[in-house]
Amino acid sequence: MTETASRNTPLAARDLAHVWHPCTQMREHPAQLPLIPIVRGDGAWLVDADGKHYLDGISSWWSNLFGHANPRIAAAIAEQAARLNHVMLAGFTHEPALQLAEELARIAPSGLTRVSYASDGASAVEIALKMSFHFWRNAGQPQRTRFIALANAYHGETLGALAVSDLPLYREVYGPLLFDPIVAPSPDWLDAEPGEGHEDVARRRLGDMRALLERHAQATCAVIVEPLVQCSGGMRMHAPAYLTGLRALCDEFDVHLIADEIAVGFGRTGTLFACEQAAITPDFLCLSKGLTGGALPLSAVLSTDTVYQAFLGDYAANTAFLHSHTFSGNPIACAAALASLSIFRDEPVLERNRALAAHLAMRLESLRGHPHVANLRQTGWIAAFDLVMDKTARSAWPGDERRGLRFYRHALDQGVLLRPLGDTVYFLPPYCIGEADIDFMVDVALAAVEAAT
Ligand SMILES: Cc1ncc(COP(=O)(O)O)c(C=O)c1O
Repeated sequence: MTETASRNTPLAARDLAHVWHPCTQMREHPAQLPLIPIVRGDGAWLVDADGKHYLDGISSWWSNLFGHANPRIAAAIAEQAARLNHVMLAGFTHEPALQLAEELARIAPSGLTRVSYASDGASAVEIALKMSFHFWRNAGQPQRTRFIALANAYHGETLGALAVSDLPLYREVYGPLLFDPIVAPSPDWLDAEPGEGHEDVARRRLGDMRALLERHAQATCAVIVEPLVQCSGGMRMHAPAYLTGLRALCDEFDVHLIADEIAVGFGRTGTLFACEQAAITPDFLCLSKGLTGGALPLSAVLSTDTVYQAFLGDYAANTAFLHSHTFSGNPIACAAALASLSIFRDEPVLERNRALAAHLAMRLESLRGHPHVANLRQTGWIAAFDLVMDKTARSAWPGDERRGLRFYRHALDQGVLLRPLGDTVYFLPPYCIGEADIDFMVDVALAAVEAAT
């Protein structure tokens, strides 16, 4: 299609006149960074205004589970929208919110019986942080004001969530506005010393955490962690043993454990929740992204009855959790979530994913020997590798060379959406993808590695 006949071009021009996009240096549009108007979704594929198809290899920022425009979720949304769009959740309730809370309490690690709703992932993290702080205050320990977060963590970009995140790209500029967490080393298995296995790294990092808790437990509200995979931090992975040990340490030192499963929840790591692999129940579980199958913004914080009870008291004592969002528990979003969870109930989603994840792993082996590919890794449905300048020395490319961006553009040209985190390429497609599409995605990735290096 010629430039003049393109339907994409006028849409992109209209967009750039007004829309300020997330996570984007806007000056790079459109010369260095194409802006693609998407008009519809079809399973694992997105379709632009010119009819070009893109395989969504990253589930649109890890949100989509069962395909774009999934008919079952779309029907639930339409039905709910025709009945009740919204009612505030203070003083009112409705079937979708209460049914979703019942369902989440049923499927989550046992003991997480209380559900607070918000809209995005970051707002769920804000709730968990504030709730933990307020719990200790209600418990007569107002000196607990600090949080322990992991190096390389990402928990979102509102101020509280950003404060417990450790990625300079997002955090540095706003540093003067943020509270200071206590930062513990990441249990990332890529940091293994010679002779160490994944569990050895976990044990060593638990030793570091113990040392921090010995010093700071009395001032600490909670430890916050992304279970099994630090996603935005470059798909860095750790052994379940770290989580088991961390739960034990939090119990021993009497601090809360916040599990941020916003990215890894709903099957991404091979189990419905990553915490299951460590057989632990956190004090707070943050969920979003895949909660609605990726169709609508909704987040939830699950907590225990012990936490809940600490907030009951006389109105004047100000022990209640007064945090509120207008669209908490929006009925349409809850209906989408219920439809998505019903697919987990009715279909062998996790079993099917295991087989497809094994196929992805098998196909990715062809990349292992590439001279500019290092650290090929996978946890369940999440696979990643790093583009490196020198494989033996594991040296990175100079940042200004933007190798990841070159990879992205090449893959996009070929009809696959794979958006690296810096120079880390990762695969996290919707669950409706088939083996043939996985093969196509990996073939394009291989060609994109060649083009980028
Ligand atoms: C682990 C984790 N927590 C929190 C967030 C923030 O979610 P949201 O972008 O919906 O605010 C993200 C987003 O990528 C995430 O990966």
